Parts: sequence; structure tokens; C-alpha cells
Amino acid sequence: MALLTADRISHTYPNGVEALRGFSLRVQAGERVAVVGPSGCGKSTLLRALAGLLQPTEGQVLLKGSPVTEPTAAISLMFQDPALLPWRTVLQNVALPLELLAHRQHDGLEPRMLLKQVGLEGFEHIYPRALSGGMAQRVALARALITRPPLLLLDEPFGALDALTREGLTALVDQLVEQFGAALVIVTHSLAEAIFLADRVVVSSARPGRVVGEVRVALPRPRTWAMESEPAFGVLLAQVRALLAEGTLMPPN
Ligand SMILES: Nc1ncnc2c1ncn2[C@@H]1O[C@H](COP(=O)(O)OP(=O)(O)O)[C@@H](O)[C@H]1O
Ligand SMILES: [Mg+2]
Repeated sequence: MALLTADRISHTYPNGVEALRGFSLRVQAGERVAVVGPSGCGKSTLLRALAGLLQPTEGQVLLKGSPVTEPTAAISLMFQDPALLPWRTVLQNVALPLELLAHRQHDGLEPRMLLKQVGLEGFEHIYPRALSGGMAQRVALARALITRPPLLLLDEPFGALDALTREGLTALVDQLVEQFGAALVIVTHSLAEAIFLADRVVVSSARPGRVVGEVRVALPRPRTWAMESEPAFGVLLAQVRALLAEGTLMPPN
């Protein structure tokens, strides 16, 4: 059974904006899927539905066969905004999900160990205002992984960062997801980032978001940014671009 299944989900907001139409996605345990598509095509709506933050108006999301109707510790969602609590230290921010789960069983990682893994050893007692954008996203990543979720959802996580910081963080995600055996669904407007991280790149049409097609990425792991200049990477980029172009030609009705 797939870890996560989105079965023909459609979503129309109360103001009448149709964001998604019949979008299906299946993610196996440990699999990595990138979703790309034009701005406003419903990608964030899709991730919010996968995370149980929004009930699609049609279709359903299943986690190991059970409907996802509310946020769950098994699925972590991280955004472009690190959304750290300013009155908590780095360590306290990372530990927060464990505190919220204290009344339930969990198999959490030690917050200090995870901070070390994201390269923030020594910053445990710093407050968020003293962090750079890249460091804040490292904290957010540690917080997202602290509950050892089988599924990590990333919504344009590094869009606000400079290119080098972004490459470093993408490689860190690659490494941590591998290490934890988590499945990943990442929405990004960087096609290179999508190919770098994914086993499959799913391409969405313009709004309402529908699946145009997907490109399998068979590049070896661990991936390095040096691969970006290899011919195989260029071929994959061209395939994704062709699907994006096809998607812009799909009529909305
Ligand atoms: N809460 C909301 N209420 C009404 N419309 C919304 C809401 N959130 C997003 N939308 C609209 O739904 C469409 C898809 O948005 P979104 O999922 O954020 O797209 P993307 O992440 O691909 O840019 C956009 O037209 C957006 O304006
Ligand atoms: Mg978005």
C-alpha cells in the first residue's frame, strides 16, 4: 500500500476560485516527489490538503489507507517562512513538536542531536532574531524532522534564500531524507532543485491544477550539484520544460 494517496482531489475556495481539479498523487514510503507548475496553479493548496490543513471539496487524501482529516505528527509541512517562535531559543523551537505530542506516544529524535545534523551545533541557546535566513530554515527543517515523520512536505522551502545557501540546504534535505528514510513531497519553482531531490517530478497545469505528466529521475545518489552540468541533467530539464509548456496549453475547461 502507498504511504500517501491523493485520490482525484479538487478544491474550490469559498470565493469561487477553483485551485485544483482531479489531482491524483501516490507516494510510496521513502519516495521523493517534486511538484512543479506555474505560479498560482494550486501547489500550496495541494500540500495543505496532503497535510490535513484543508479538506478538499472533492476526493480524499489517504495516509496508509486512512483518510487524513486533520494535521498529524506523521506528516510535517515546512514553508518558505520558517515561522519560528521569537520568544523561544533555537533548541526550544526544535523541541516544540515533541512538547505538543507529550501526551501521545512518539519516537522523537533528540533535539540537540538533530541540531548538530543540520549544522547548528553551538546555536542551541540563540534566539531566532539572531539567525540568518538560511540558519532559520535549518532550524525549521530540524523542527519538521524531530517527530521522525514518514512524510515531509516542503512548500518552496528555500525560495527566499540566495543561490548558494539554497544549494547547501537542498543537499542537506537530500542527505537527511535519505538518512531518516522519510518520503518527500517538495513544491519548488526551481526545476534544478526538483530534479536534484526527486525520484519523480510531477508537472501541474495552470490553475485549476491538474497533472500534466511526470518525469522519472534516475540519477544516482547521493546527488551533487556537479551533476547539474552533466548531459543527463539537461535532458531531464528539457523533459520537465516540455510538460510545463504542454500544461500551459491545457484549456481550463
Ligand atoms: N484561502 C484562499 N482563498 C481563496 N483563494 C485562494 C486561497 N488560497 C489560495 N487561493 C487561490 O487559489 C489559487 C491557487 O493558490 P496556491 O495553491 O497558493 O497556488 P501556488 O502555490 O501554486 O502558487 C490561486 O489563484 C490563489 O489566489
Ligand atoms: Mg504556493
